[in-house]
Amino acid sequence: MTAELVFERIAIRAFRNISAAELDPAPRLNVVSGDNGHGKTSLLEALYVLCTSKSFRADKNAEVIQTGAEVAQIAARIAEGGLRREQRATIGPKARTFAADGKRVVKLSAWAVKTPVVVFHPGDLLLASGPAQGRRTLLDRVALFLEPISADHRSRYQTALRERHRALDERGPRAPELDAYEALLAEHGAALCRTRQRTAARIAEALGPAFERMAAPGLALEVRLRSAGSTDVEAFRQALAEARPVDVRRGSASFGPQRDELELWVDGRSARRHASQGQQRVLSLALKVAELDCVREARGAHPILLLDDVSSELDADRFGAVFGLLREVQSQVFVTTPRPELFVMPEVAPSDRADFSVSAGVVRRAH
Ligand SMILES: Nc1ncnc2c1ncn2[C@@H]1O[C@H](COP(=O)(O)OP(=O)(O)OP(=O)(O)O)[C@@H](O)[C@H]1O
Ligand SMILES: [Mg+2]
Repeated sequence: MTAELVFERIAIRAFRNISAAELDPAPRLNVVSGDNGHGKTSLLEALYVLCTSKSFRADKNAEVIQTGAEVAQIAARIAEGGLRREQRATIGPKARTFAADGKRVVKLSAWAVKTPVVVFHPGDLLLASGPAQGRRTLLDRVALFLEPISADHRSRYQTALRERHRALDERGPRAPELDAYEALLAEHGAALCRTRQRTAARIAEALGPAFERMAAPGLALEVRLRSAGSTDVEAFRQALAEARPVDVRRGSASFGPQRDELELWVDGRSARRHASQGQQRVLSLALKVAELDCVREARGAHPILLLDDVSSELDADRFGAVFGLLREVQSQVFVTTPRPELFVMPEVAPSDRADFSVSAGVVRRAH
């Protein structure tokens, strides 16, 4: 059984150019329209920050706080399978706090699985063809739901990686503390590599059918995780010890999952290097559908789907693929667009749909 998961009520304060907004979204489709620069993406970003604790476009949390305000706040009443909860995020210049039904949640990885959300924004069109980091982030987001403990391994790994880097940088390859850092890196790094392999296999299962539905039929897709680490703790530790001189020269660690590459091959050729731009975009969208599918299955609820302005960046055929997705998913969806007339969907009952307009940060129910 997969539970229905919906935002019933949303309140936003001092988030980017949205000074104050309250909205009661519809359970299926919410279309947010408005001219460029009026706050459409900001609205989706607020929902994403509430659900994940992070923005999908800001490097620093404080960027989202409205200029001149002290904190940004997002609160929502969320219904999941008949039960209701209230989630609240407060983003200050230095600290962020998150609370569910009035109780503070300190562990961010626990917060991030409460209300699963999948976003697709124009930058994600580069997911298949762009830097490996984007695909690693997708892997880790799925891993968070498949194997929640992976978040602890990842954060401990990253801390030890920084410490080893600093020791190498300041004291060279013979620094005595390196052994301890490398033991930690090997333990958590090997665990992370094992999780990444299982997660990549699960993503591959979901990606194949999603890509086939959207791309030209008959294109063969293959997913490979090219691991830059090892699943074996001792082999991991040895590789790090041997890499010290090289790593000092490079100024970064040459071994480990921070350099993993999730490779996508279409018809026997690397999608990054050889696929057409259209194929790369479809593959990027299919990766997001795979994320949705994996998270839905692992979490037992339909993730909220946020689609930011995909209509402007896609040609008619690919836009058709987005439409197919909108018809198919059982998630509550928020789409933003400067062209709401494109979203004619007679199959969605009027009570299941709400239209909003955003103008200079003011959100109104349209019609
Ligand atoms: N911290 C902030 N405080 C106040 N305003 C901000 C802040 N950060 C961004 N803005 C402004 O918020 C406005 C809304 O930006 P947003 O990206 O949400 O627009 P949009 O409707 O998605 O536009 P587009 O159609 O071009 O994607 C922009 O004009 C931007 O300058
Ligand atoms: Mg935008």
